[in-house]
Amino acid sequence: MTFEEKYSQYKSAFEKRLSEFCNNITCKPDILAESMKYSLNLGGKRIRPVLMYAVSNVLGLDEGKIENFALALELIHTYSLIHDDLPEMDNDDFRRGKPSNHKVFGQGNAVLAGDALLNTAYSLLIDECRNGGEYVSAAKNICDCAGIYGMIAGQSADLTHENDEDPDENTLDFIYENKTAKLVLAAVLTPSILCCGKYFSELKVFGRETGILFQLTDDILDVEGNFDVLGKSIGKDKAEGKYTCVKLYGIEKSKVKADVIADKCTRVLEGIKGDTRFLKELTNFIRQRIY
Ligand code: IPE
Ligand code: IPE
Ligand code: MG
Ligand code: MG
Ligand code: MG
Repeated sequence: MTFEEKYSQYKSAFEKRLSEFCNNITCKPDILAESMKYSLNLGGKRIRPVLMYAVSNVLGLDEGKIENFALALELIHTYSLIHDDLPEMDNDDFRRGKPSNHKVFGQGNAVLAGDALLNTAYSLLIDECRNGGEYVSAAKNICDCAGIYGMIAGQSADLTHENDEDPDENTLDFIYENKTAKLVLAAVLTPSILCCGKYFSELKVFGRETGILFQLTDDILDVEGNFDVLGKSIGKDKAEGKYTCVKLYGIEKSKVKADVIADKCTRVLEGIKGDTRFLKELTNFIRQRIY
């Protein structure tokens, strides 16, 4: 099976669970359900669920055990994007090639759609906790990665350091590690935690570095990408004074950094017994991606 076929197999498995979830949303008023479903169904790469399914496969963990964790994580990711696009954050009118949530439903409803996705994710995670201690640990890890020691801290730093005149490496590392790498790390560590910590230290490095690589390429694409392919506006980071690798290192040095990190991701996988080919190809996909 080719990389593309395998990716699409994991993505379809996840989207089957997602569509079942969406079909069962019955909340009122209708605009609440519609605004949640709008962003969930816009598409997106589903890279966090795909990573979670792929790592489960390497560890020999049944997909049924992680599907609700993958769903919760994608709900959290989608909420983070809705809020990220708001005028008071990144002020982005497009997401996944379509108008951003607040452009369709208004800012108040977009805030609530994000809140609703986050709250529902927690409800799904709490349900999983009934299955045993390792499920509690996996749920807690996702909460921590999404929270004030994770994604929210990164988003806060991203805002705080907008328009800083003298960017430094430590601040950029903090922003990358938290706003992006923590949710990627959560995707990679969930199967390990459910397998009582199997290859935890290797996967921790792999998840963190993959997340950092993902944000490096996101920042590069904000300069060199194509709106029609990427589905979001280009040149917004510079316009908003964002703290990015391009601002700190320039585009060429950023690409060299991305190569070094991609190499680190691939190397750490050597320490894992099992078929890690797909994960290596996924690293390469993230490094080379155009969307
Ligand atoms: C966008 O994430 C936000 C970042 C962390 C850079 P993705 O690029 O995974 O967005 P979708 O889900 O594919 O739209
Ligand atoms: C987003 O980083 C990170 C999160 C949403 C947590 P960006 O602001 O660079 O992502 P895009 O470019 O809007 O997708
Ligand atoms: Mg942002
Ligand atoms: Mg943004
Ligand atoms: Mg970006």
